[in-house]
Amino acid sequence: MKLFQSALISFLIIFGVSANKLPKYKDAKQPIESRIKDLVKRMTLEEKILQLNQYTFGENNNPNNIGPEVKKLPAGIGSLIYFSANPVLRNEIQKKAMEESRLGIPILFGFDVIHGFRTVYPISLAQACTFNPELVTKACGVAAKESVLSGVDWTFSPMIDVALDPRWGRVSEGYGEDPYMNAVFGVASVKGYQGKNLSDPYSIAACLKHYVGYGMSEGGRDYRSSNISAQSLWETYLPPYEACVKAGAATLMSGFNDLNGVPATANHYTLTEILKNRWKHDGFVVADWNAVAQLVYQGVAKDSAEAGLKAFMAGIEMDMRDNIYLEYFPKLVAEKKIPMAKIDDAVARVLRVKFRLGLFDEPYTKVLDENERYLKPQDVALAEKLAEESMVLLKNTKKALPFSGNIKKLAVIGPMAKDKENMLGSWSFNGKANDVESIFEGLEKEFSGKIQLNYAYGCGFEGTDEKGFEEAIAAANGSDAILVCLGELKTWSGENASRSTIALPAIQEKLVEKLKQTGKPIILVLSNGRPLELVRLEPLADAIVEIWQPGIAGGTPLAGILSGRVNPSGKLAITFPLTTGQIPMYYNMRQSARPYQAMGDYQDIPVEPMYWFGHGLSYTTFSYDEAKLSAKKITKNEKLTIEVTVTNSGAVKGKETVLWYISDPVCSISRPMKELKYFKKKEINAGDKTTFKFEIDPMRDLSYTDGTGKRFVETGDFYIHVGNQKVKFELE
Ligand code: NOJ
Repeated sequence: MKLFQSALISFLIIFGVSANKLPKYKDAKQPIESRIKDLVKRMTLEEKILQLNQYTFGENNNPNNIGPEVKKLPAGIGSLIYFSANPVLRNEIQKKAMEESRLGIPILFGFDVIHGFRTVYPISLAQACTFNPELVTKACGVAAKESVLSGVDWTFSPMIDVALDPRWGRVSEGYGEDPYMNAVFGVASVKGYQGKNLSDPYSIAACLKHYVGYGMSEGGRDYRSSNISAQSLWETYLPPYEACVKAGAATLMSGFNDLNGVPATANHYTLTEILKNRWKHDGFVVADWNAVAQLVYQGVAKDSAEAGLKAFMAGIEMDMRDNIYLEYFPKLVAEKKIPMAKIDDAVARVLRVKFRLGLFDEPYTKVLDENERYLKPQDVALAEKLAEESMVLLKNTKKALPFSGNIKKLAVIGPMAKDKENMLGSWSFNGKANDVESIFEGLEKEFSGKIQLNYAYGCGFEGTDEKGFEEAIAAANGSDAILVCLGELKTWSGENASRSTIALPAIQEKLVEKLKQTGKPIILVLSNGRPLELVRLEPLADAIVEIWQPGIAGGTPLAGILSGRVNPSGKLAITFPLTTGQIPMYYNMRQSARPYQAMGDYQDIPVEPMYWFGHGLSYTTFSYDEAKLSAKKITKNEKLTIEVTVTNSGAVKGKETVLWYISDPVCSISRPMKELKYFKKKEINAGDKTTFKFEIDPMRDLSYTDGTGKRFVETGDFYIHVGNQKVKFELE
């Protein structure tokens, strides 16, 4: 198409037909800003308002859905949520926009492509546990390509909401508890989706969500208030957004939450003052689903018209599926409640993303057969790699793992063992259970002819039915070890999936208690979308492997970990509290006023969580030499390098992630106990050593912000934490 268009333009020029006859906005040679200006000038108010509106389209149960008939769609609509994977249908709809709307403005097709399209990758929380952002960039690149080939130009991803409460179902959708991790993995995914250039054939626009503070929805309940101090907002919740905006993220989505009383969807401070004025974001913000209408429920608007007005004036350019902008804006503009200049700016922002995506010049998508679009061998291999690096060996005692030659028969028990559907995790609309390799299938592949697998269902995910226990115990008695595969249904994670406890249902715990009585070694495999309360299960298990919701390719990597073909290298991107009552529990808390003798902590349980952020075992051991500083003192315009040499002191090759934290013991504002500033993962052969380096840039790594976002650097002592060392240096 692109080729055809430029050939046409050259033809017109050669034969004396001036290309200038093309309206400027249609001329691919013109700079984008001139094209936008030209187009906005030509648009009627109605056409402009349509651009600010998003419809839904496809087969779902949403009553607002306009149904599958293309003819019912207004040709001039700005965007569609495209609940379909059919490129032919997309092209048909797009044709209508290009040919039947007066100005031929392409529609922007958006969809929730969260952890892969058809090639479903591990959930985002698991991706963060790889500590390997390069893999995440690649996976998002594959998701982008599959999206484009299915008719999608824009994904509502990544979610970069720092989340400290694992009761919240949406912890599975983000990158865990740490702001730096959310920034690094958010940027990695923006790079993957958007590619080098948004106009590349397989790039799609990213959407940072849910701006901002949604991850702090009170008590882990969804859609509630987020009470976040100005200090924490700037310190913890905004930094991932700032990093991703700087990385060029095209769009953002506002949260459902209110932020200290002001709904995120009507928040002028965050949407306009910070995002547009300070950070100079020039793309657009879409409201979350129904979030404009919900301003009425949230008690800041008396009706839909006021809700629309508030959202728009605060800085929401696109109304997702509510049709409020469409219905009320003509009147609001006529009454001068909405200035025309504001409409023009919003329209320009939407058009900018469309121009940058190249949609005006290449509105249609290539139509390929399904087998050419999805599940390409190299993309499935990537899914396997990502799953492999995301799995975390939480516990390994009595040499339970990897299996030695002593295991000839393995009992494989539990609701997760043969499950496929739940391995996909939430938000995997185009994922198919049939594409998933189950745990059992992975084991069969790995151990065929070597270990006899004795399968028993055991119990369901929940309920009280113990009928399967007897068969499970028999399988266990007839085996040398027991692999118990437990976990969560995929519907227990994601939106509107908060849980009052992070423990697994009692039936699953009871199954393990019964199996323990056989005296056989127990290896627990967990597949879940949030940290779990393991206080009762952990003592029963000799080893525990966390596989998260690994997507389509989890069976083989897990089997590899069990056999020892794979050395586990994942580390937790989120703390596992000991009990639900210990929430919130995260590594970068501020210092207590009485940080000794467990003062102030819950007096009825231990102080420590089950597993801290960063925990993850390996089959080898890594020993750290003494860390070396390039200087003991620096000024704020200098850089400081710290290096540590790490030796693989065990018997097998392995990957180590070195985490570099900083703490500031004396500062005008009490700082977190330590903050992650950098990490690097490297593979080291047995017996070899490698040096890891961290270059400290004082403005980036030692500064802190106040509650207005102003950055400061204070002189004095700082500590770098690496491995179990704490190294002091001074900023003078
Ligand atoms: C609501 C969810 O909060 C958001 O994350 C999602 O992108 C939209 N619905 C669209 O499906």
